[in-house]
Amino acid sequence: MIYVLGSINNDISLELERMPKKGETLIADGCRMGLGGKGANQAVAIAKLAMRGRNKAKKAVKMIGLVGNDFVGSELVKKLDDAGVDTEFVRQVNRNTGTAIVAVTGKDNRIMVYSGANLGISKSDVDEALEHATSADTLLCQLEVPLYIVGYALRKARAIGMTTILNPAPAKELPDDFYYNVDVIVPNETETQMLTGINPKDWNSRLAAMHAFHERGVRYVVLTLGESGCTISDNNRLVMHIPAIKTSVVDTTGAGDTFVGAFALTYPHVGMYVFKEACMFATKASSITVSRRGAAESIPTFEEVCELYSYDIKKK
Ligand code: RIB
Repeated sequence: MIYVLGSINNDISLELERMPKKGETLIADGCRMGLGGKGANQAVAIAKLAMRGRNKAKKAVKMIGLVGNDFVGSELVKKLDDAGVDTEFVRQVNRNTGTAIVAVTGKDNRIMVYSGANLGISKSDVDEALEHATSADTLLCQLEVPLYIVGYALRKARAIGMTTILNPAPAKELPDDFYYNVDVIVPNETETQMLTGINPKDWNSRLAAMHAFHERGVRYVVLTLGESGCTISDNNRLVMHIPAIKTSVVDTTGAGDTFVGAFALTYPHVGMYVFKEACMFATKASSITVSRRGAAESIPTFEEVCELYSYDIKKK
């Protein structure tokens, strides 16, 4: 089982021809509202990519998060449910549901988040959710819920012996001891620069940045580099670059989350082969997300990835 601790947002996306200048009002070409939030998107990616078609009753992912006890909150929980996410540990509380305003222009986006209910998550939410977790399970976190809760959950997961994956998004300074409880870190360029002080612009700087994470105690590093693909390192035993797949980009919202979710799903066990394969699968899944509009709704199913990339699905 994969436990995702993270944010659940109501995304309001505006499709624009270009980003507005300071003080300028722009008329959008389109507007959509849907499920978003880095936590929710990653949970949906895991659920949709987990071959649900074969066994709908068996869920692969449990979401730990909070929404408001209003209509929007209930709608978002329903969307998580419909996507195949176990929502037993999603609570509705007396706060506004997290909201994100997403400005989209083809290859680019700008996101502004009001955290709302996401900030109310507590240690007891984590305790309750992980009560029956075992060392065979995985905890996946991002940084859109309070940092001390993420730190607490990672410590607890480590004590249980779970695999821990951190997507340090959005970028935030992290205390050094945070890293001791992280098995795999998946930062993008901005996050890498903030956390290591190194801009991963070329091969040597990427090696240096990955080394900086290893020095702090993280065994596996996946630097996601947008249209340049990703560079991965298994404590310097396996270091390689995986190029992105060229595709027509409509909206990049949720692409990073698809990558992280797909990676978490296909990487439950340590091993070089699995590590590399998980990143290649994640690259394929996120190449589909960028070709569609929206966040959670743009994430492909396992069958869709298979169809596009000709995987062999053996039907039972
Ligand atoms: O990573 C994309 C997500 O970031 C959006 O869905 C938005 O809600 C913000 O959390």
